Amino acid sequence: MPHTRTSLHARYGAAAKDLPVPENTVLEHLLSHRSVRNFLPDALPGPTLPTLVAAAQSAASSSNLQTWSVVAVQSQASRDRLAALAGNQAHIRQAPLLLVWLADLSRIARIAQYKQQPADGLPYLDTYLIAVIDAALAAQNAVVAAEALGLGTVYIGALRNQPEAVAEVVGTPQGVFPVFGLVVGHPDPAHPAAIKPRLPQTTVLHHERYTAPDSLDAEIGDYDAQLSGFQASEGLPQVGWSNVVLERLRNAESLKGRHRLVEALHGAGFPLR
Ligand SMILES: Cc1cc2nc3c(=O)[nH]c(=O)nc-3n(C[C@H](O)[C@H](O)[C@H](O)COP(=O)(O)O)c2cc1C
Repeated sequence: MPHTRTSLHARYGAAAKDLPVPENTVLEHLLSHRSVRNFLPDALPGPTLPTLVAAAQSAASSSNLQTWSVVAVQSQASRDRLAALAGNQAHIRQAPLLLVWLADLSRIARIAQYKQQPADGLPYLDTYLIAVIDAALAAQNAVVAAEALGLGTVYIGALRNQPEAVAEVVGTPQGVFPVFGLVVGHPDPAHPAAIKPRLPQTTVLHHERYTAPDSLDAEIGDYDAQLSGFQASEGLPQVGWSNVVLERLRNAESLKGRHRLVEALHGAGFPLR
């Protein structure tokens, strides 16, 4: 495993030398994260799923409401179908496990029902947000755990491109919404993933109050150059970062179906009041 300084350098380039991050195995583990998109078809060891779920359930949860659930999709037929729904992402077909993380308010609705008590806070936007935040924190703990086991992961936001069809595949009822997927598998050593650089800390970190930067264009220009270097080393088109970001959010069509998420949420029993 590389040292913290090596990972920091991959993450921040020359600016890494000014960051006083101590050597520490957990930090090194976190700093060396990379999404994996090339997997071996090999099955996962038996304890993997309960281990990932234990890590996920150890994440903090808003008021301990535990408003998330997860569907472990292992069948090839379902993964093929979900891959097709998520822009034909081959890694969903390739890796043995897709975890579909759910914002799940149905459990609390059912508790209210059998206890014959109101749960009038359920239809509000904040309650949905709580469920999404809980699901994301849980999933990220699973990512860290999977990486600790030598496995690779990649999130699949594209499951929201066609949310109704995805809900059908994983059988979610009203009050449950698939928020994203997570592919888990053995990384293919023939195609190793690399640490992707991030924006400099000066761009994202504010002290006491948010301050709009004077030099955003220069900072972004530097980061574009750094990311172009990363793309070149990965054999990818050298498009930088800002062009990709703007392309991703150019118009409603660029959202690949997600522009109708509010409609899909309403249909799934989330009024978002
Ligand atoms: C919520 C979420 C959804 C994502 N959806 C996808 C996806 O559908 N397909 C994909 O290949 N990567 C997806 N990613 C991975 C990001 O592209 C990746 O994290 C980002 O480029 C940074 O790279 P890194 O994870 O290797 O550091 C997603 C990441 C997150 C957090």
